Amino acid sequence: MSVLLNEQGVPLLTGAASDFGVNFHWGISTSAYQTEGAYLDDGKGPSIWDDFSNRKGKIADGSSGNEACEFYYRYEQDLHILKELGIKNFRFSISWSRLLPDGFGTVNPHGLAYYERLIDTCLKFEITPWITLYHWDLPLALEKKGGWANREILHWFQQFAHLCASQFGDRVKHWMVLNEPLVFTGAGYFFGIHAPGKKGMSNFLAAAHHAAMCQAIGGKVLRETVKDAYIGTTVSCSHVTPHSEQSRHIKAAQKVDALINRFFVEPFLGLGYPLKELKGLNMIEKFVKGNDMDELAFDFDFLGIQSYTREIVKHSMFTPVIRAKLVPAEKRSAPLTAMNWEIYPEGMYHLLKKFSAYKGIKKIIVTENGAAFEDLAEGSIVRDAQRIDYLRIHLAQIRKAKEEGAPVEGYFVWTFLDNFEWAEGYRPRFGLVYVDFKNQQRIIKQSALWYAEYISK
Ligand code: FCB
Repeated sequence: MSVLLNEQGVPLLTGAASDFGVNFHWGISTSAYQTEGAYLDDGKGPSIWDDFSNRKGKIADGSSGNEACEFYYRYEQDLHILKELGIKNFRFSISWSRLLPDGFGTVNPHGLAYYERLIDTCLKFEITPWITLYHWDLPLALEKKGGWANREILHWFQQFAHLCASQFGDRVKHWMVLNEPLVFTGAGYFFGIHAPGKKGMSNFLAAAHHAAMCQAIGGKVLRETVKDAYIGTTVSCSHVTPHSEQSRHIKAAQKVDALINRFFVEPFLGLGYPLKELKGLNMIEKFVKGNDMDELAFDFDFLGIQSYTREIVKHSMFTPVIRAKLVPAEKRSAPLTAMNWEIYPEGMYHLLKKFSAYKGIKKIIVTENGAAFEDLAEGSIVRDAQRIDYLRIHLAQIRKAKEEGAPVEGYFVWTFLDNFEWAEGYRPRFGLVYVDFKNQQRIIKQSALWYAEYISK
């Protein structure tokens, strides 16, 4: 093993899983739409991603998630790979429209049977299932009624959450309510670059408030329905640094931090939205009704944080509302992944310190972290040394934060299989397992072997 140095030239800890204690959850994360395929099979209804990815010009490589990794059909062989690797925690999401083709009402028995089989296969292989209720694939039928921007979503989501909790809660105890609400509301309802492709402040703020409400609604349903549940929700987050020490850049960085790191966390802690820093988002109050400010709160067992990079922020007069912009990593000659995201492991440390400073956050689990690189399959080998380094230096930072008292209790790599990376299509390969999309062949990358060894020690 090469010795990695930090910015001050001090060797970074490399270590092994045992450094994190015996109760640490080591796992791997996936989502339904990015892997399952079978997009209209066995009675599944269309989701907003089925619709969006099949529209012309929406996905960078012109692909869709129609087939993805065919995990719907291949889950048993794939879970067998996890078993062989000794990865004992598997995070996946439920496709809402596979269970409820119209979003509510009639249940699709084949959808239910699929998740039953998936869960039972995990248990057979002694893999603990961790379910995310919602990882971005809203039933299209609900989007036609306004989707996340329609307040009715509070009822639709409650019913969906209740169905999942009551069907699977006897065997599944680890739950996450939402995956990265800022991304699906921001990219999906403000920028229009993700499904459903809507734009504008009003769509975004309505969707954001309803998503924040659904975090708590999902949490309550799970608490009431699943005995001994361990309940969290996940957020995207990035350590934010001002471009320079000038006060306008510092202020800009505070605003971006409030938006990308605090906006969906503080409401469930009972602290409301961070509108002091984000005055331009005051309009969200238009969507806040009756008792909502109390109803936003929920006492989660853990916060799932998902972080890949950091952001450097500059003041910008021309950016409406937030008056700040990100300085792209490729313009700063920073080390990059294939997503053009800066590799900055110290960011993970800062985030863990930041979130552990909130009184209401009891435990933190890193529910996603990982990297895309240009992997090449040489026969049955993929030598992805850069990914191994990425994982190793991030784990060293997590260990450091843990040693300083951050209550971090788990780490899940994003992701198991190379898959459909949303608007980017299949080009970015994040998997520990390579997928040849021409024939669905799987090749275990060296990073998977490295991770297997790391967590076994
Ligand atoms: C996160 C998403 C996940 C994946 C990774 C790279 O924002 O939750 O589905 O796309 O990024």
